[in-house]
Amino acid sequence: MKQRYFYDCPLSEKLLYTAFLLLVGIGYLMALTYLYTSHEGHDGKQGLSIEDVAETYYGNRSGTRLEAAIRGPMAGFIQQADDRNQIVAWLKGGGSEEGYNTRIRPVLEKSCLQCHSPASGLNIPDFSSYAGIETVVDIDTGESLHTLMKLSHIHLFGIGLLAFSIGLIFRLAVANDWFKSTLMLLPFVAILADILAWFLTKWDPIYAYTIVAAGAVLGLAWAGQILISLYQIWFLRAPKE
Ligand code: HEC
Repeated sequence: MKQRYFYDCPLSEKLLYTAFLLLVGIGYLMALTYLYTSHEGHDGKQGLSIEDVAETYYGNRSGTRLEAAIRGPMAGFIQQADDRNQIVAWLKGGGSEEGYNTRIRPVLEKSCLQCHSPASGLNIPDFSSYAGIETVVDIDTGESLHTLMKLSHIHLFGIGLLAFSIGLIFRLAVANDWFKSTLMLLPFVAILADILAWFLTKWDPIYAYTIVAAGAVLGLAWAGQILISLYQIWFLRAPKE
């Protein structure tokens, strides 16, 4: 059978491909934004950095869940740098019960206990006692293996299917065969590398670079396939015989 190209497709097929590619493109941008906002600032500095990525998987072994919280999701509740430094200094010093009673408890009372105590009715760590806060001053080792396992199978199935669908459309593009094959296969390689690197990063934070590189390759390969497809669907005419 003769190879088909986009210009051989009837209008209905072109519309179907266009709608799908646009939706996926928007979805990808949403995913990027979500990644940025959920990982940004983990390391205490603004913006997304390698350290943020490393901390998601490797954790902050010199820090604790408590420190991670006051620099990350709970930062908004502890505006005063003084209070924050007080807690960090207490943690670095070993987090003694005496220090909790004299210096830390008053800070928590002011900023945290309205939620972090049994009275709030919320099912979250109780900081109104030393025993309660001890549960969050252990070492932070990042996402658990169990969570990574859950995320990886969702990602492998979901992104695999997306890569397959985008590739299925892109195969109708007019382009050098080598170029087409490479652009089609890259997303699959990138997904696999990305997910392997999550587990490796748990072991050594240096692999955070692989996660970022794989993400970039995936994004570029998809952008290439989507943009080339959309362009050819609507602007490339069949060559005159
Ligand atoms: C308005 C309510 C509220 C206030 C105020 C609040 N927290 Fe939280 N905190 C939560 C909720 C809800 C969670 C659980 C959901 C989550 O992890 O995001 C939580 C979770 C945490 C955790 C657990 C994170 C983990 O690793 O599981 C820590 C530690 C923490 N908060 C620290 C603090 C500190 C320190 C303060 C005060 C500076 C504070 N929180 C103030 C609502 C609050």
